[in-house]
Amino acid sequence: MKANRIFNFNPGPAALPLAVLEEIQENFLDFNGSGMSIIELSHRSKHFDDVINDAVARTKRLLNLDDNFQVLFLQGGASLQFAMVPMNLLADDRSADYVDTGTWSSKAIAEAKILGKSINVVASSADKNYSYIPRNIRFNEDAAYVHLTSNNTIKGTGWAQFPDTHAVPIVCDMSSDIMSRPIDARKFGLFYAGAQKNIGPAGVCLVVIRRDMLGLAPQSVPTMLRYDTHAAKNSLYNTPPSFAIYTLDLVLKWLEETVGGLEKMAALNRQKADLLYDFMDEGDFYRATAERNSRSLMNVTFRLPDEELEQQFVSQALDNGLGGLKGHRSVGGCRASLYNAVPVAAVKSLVDFMKTFERANG
Ligand SMILES: Cc1ncc(COP(=O)(O)O)c(C=O)c1O
Repeated sequence: MKANRIFNFNPGPAALPLAVLEEIQENFLDFNGSGMSIIELSHRSKHFDDVINDAVARTKRLLNLDDNFQVLFLQGGASLQFAMVPMNLLADDRSADYVDTGTWSSKAIAEAKILGKSINVVASSADKNYSYIPRNIRFNEDAAYVHLTSNNTIKGTGWAQFPDTHAVPIVCDMSSDIMSRPIDARKFGLFYAGAQKNIGPAGVCLVVIRRDMLGLAPQSVPTMLRYDTHAAKNSLYNTPPSFAIYTLDLVLKWLEETVGGLEKMAALNRQKADLLYDFMDEGDFYRATAERNSRSLMNVTFRLPDEELEQQFVSQALDNGLGGLKGHRSVGGCRASLYNAVPVAAVKSLVDFMKTFERANG
């Protein structure tokens, strides 16, 4: 049956590669000769072991991680990591640096404070409505870690380069740009990403942790909230979100084998973002909200001359097969999320529609 699919610019859950969806569909009723679907299989079976081990191996290859890093697949989303990070990594006699670049960073800061942890917000872009990434930050040399949000899904900004924090490990929320480009893993003590934007469906959160940080959690941290619990059991301490991990594995296979790795993915992502930003910069009908040198390549946030036009834009775009363009409810405006699985053709089609809409309403 031919599905009537649209170009999907949703911020998350978001577009997945069509080839992945088709592979799931094709193998669904009988997974690898098991006579069962993947969601009916035991997570203690050889079938599932192969899936999770493949997902770990692909994560390590794609991100160029050596054996100093442990790959975990956890539940509770990125939001639970806001609490697990300070619970596990921030002893009561230490403090950590946080950079506030928008809604999700602010939530991470709030969770650390709820736990009564000592943190310093060393930089913030709140003064200009989070439209830029702070520069020339003075980090504390004795911080346990520096927490950053690599890409700000709602505000449309992102770190083009990670700052130099010297010997202090970076802990990073990479939910909305994980695997969109290569990273230098040596800078990081831990990074995490809800899968539902760039690498899979909702329900699983990828956590990559440097092994020496696994031993830092105080005894008082409950079993399920400890990284060492999950690390000791290859993320199988309790029943994992098996369907989400399976789908994530297929997305990583697509990234490796069809796209050809993260260098190639980054070039495509740059091409898509340039198409859209360059078009908007040519005129003054569409206005990108982020400062030029802080622009996100994943979430392009923009305004039209007034809110009524924005509403018409979003709804007429949908009529033309372009979905998910409404800005986050907290900021309004429009947003096109250009995650890995969004093809260049989708962005070309969006730009064509934007030209037509401007001609009719400009
Ligand atoms: C950067 C960032 N961090 C955290 C979250 C929250 O993720 P979750 O819904 O998986 O808890 C989101 C969700 O949009 C996000 O974009």
